[in-house]
Amino acid sequence: MTYDLIVIGSGPGGYVCAIRAAQLGLKTAVVEKDATYGGTCLNVGCIPSKALLHASHMFDEAGHGLAPLGVIVDPPRLDLPAMMKHKADTVGANVAGVAYLFKKNKVDGFRGVGRLAGPGKVSVTGPDGAVQTLETKNVVIATGSAVAPLRDAASAAIEIDEKVIVSSTGALALEKVPQKLVVIGAGVIGLELGSVWRRLGAQVTAIEYLDRVLPGFDLEVATRFQKILEKQGFAFKLASKVTGVTREGDGVSVSWSSVDGATSDKIAADVVLIATGRIPYTQGLGLEEAGVVLERGRIVIDDHFATNVAGVYAIGDVVRGPMLAHKAEDEGVAVAEILAGEAGHVNYNVIPGVVYTAPEVASVGITEEEAKAKGLTIAVGKFPFSANGRARANRETDGFVKIIADAVTDRVLGVHILGAGAGELIAEATVLMEFSGSSEDLARTCHAHPTMSEAMKEAALAVLKRPIHI
Ligand code: NAI
Repeated sequence: MTYDLIVIGSGPGGYVCAIRAAQLGLKTAVVEKDATYGGTCLNVGCIPSKALLHASHMFDEAGHGLAPLGVIVDPPRLDLPAMMKHKADTVGANVAGVAYLFKKNKVDGFRGVGRLAGPGKVSVTGPDGAVQTLETKNVVIATGSAVAPLRDAASAAIEIDEKVIVSSTGALALEKVPQKLVVIGAGVIGLELGSVWRRLGAQVTAIEYLDRVLPGFDLEVATRFQKILEKQGFAFKLASKVTGVTREGDGVSVSWSSVDGATSDKIAADVVLIATGRIPYTQGLGLEEAGVVLERGRIVIDDHFATNVAGVYAIGDVVRGPMLAHKAEDEGVAVAEILAGEAGHVNYNVIPGVVYTAPEVASVGITEEEAKAKGLTIAVGKFPFSANGRARANRETDGFVKIIADAVTDRVLGVHILGAGAGELIAEATVLMEFSGSSEDLARTCHAHPTMSEAMKEAALAVLKRPIHI
């Protein structure tokens, strides 16, 4: 039998692609090397992170957030195994959901490492080493990404044992709360997982190469966010690089120096989290042998997700663009629709990013720095949550909404939010971006959406220079 489509990898890109393809009538199979479907996101990434972020936030609120509201409780006690069970149950339900959807949509699943094995062929090496070869008209590579190795001063890769020197995978499964946690890299993973363990009692120090946190996000947002994290207890060493990580007793010693070389020191920790980025997962897929072109580690694709080799497509973290699950999902749907003869499309202008800390950070479109680098003349509208009634009522006044618009047309180019619920609010920001072609459109979009939050509306009205509450 020949499949219409074989998808290699069952993360958010791969599983959504396979299901959509099957729904459109393509005979579809998925090859997955791990024991459960769902990839990094469902098994050791977004989903377990969110379970621990929510649970640890509840712990923190019970300890510090309730008394000012007149709710007096005994200091909460941590049952870490129960919290980890909540995480495991959440993961279990999600990966079972994917298996159910494959069955329901008649997607065949093959366990093993998938590899391009010649035109129209994919080999699958199972966990027992047995190899079978499948035939297919098309292949979609959706193999995701892996932790980027961190090198010491002598350029040796620092070995991750997932107990003391951990990646995000180990940081989601620590057996006890470390007294001291060093996080290398103050990006999304470092700040999310650093927050989890700080709330549960760890002293967290983040070492970051750049002179700011959260690269890629709006600088003003990131700077304010860093101050809030410092108030929560985070310590930062910015413009600093790690020169070595060595095991010492049960713990670890992290050597660092400032990027300018002026200072250097060591920090002792119980656990060190390496969160310095991820790299596309492309090894062992037979890409070189098949002649698939890669550029800086990523598979090169055209506007229709096609590689240079006929019948081979790629989506998600292995191709250009942000390494985000929802971006991979949209690409999965689009390539399935293209393969079924329809017009699949992804609007890359409105892919939001969210950091699930407290407060949350969310962003869509371009930042103020990007706008200036492009030479655009911009109007900036801002609204602080301290001026928002509901935020005050909830004691969640940290942060603001910031809208970047074209100064001539008032078209919204980017929205950046720091504050409670930013991850939800960003959805309506994408509406503003899509429907604000002109000043009139922006005003109409604000007023035509009675459900639009006041903070978003006020920031947009500030762009139009007619705010009401500020
Ligand atoms: P990142 O790119 O967000 O942050 C890595 C940080 O490490 C950067 O600030 C970088 O300057 C710093 N860094 C790099 N090398 C360093 C060194 N030698 N010493 C000190 N600092 C160094 O990557 P991260 O946090 O590892 O996340 C990986 C990917 O996963 C990202 O693409 C991210 O978007 C995605 N992700 C998304 C989440 C979400 O959407 N909520 C959650 C977690 C991850």
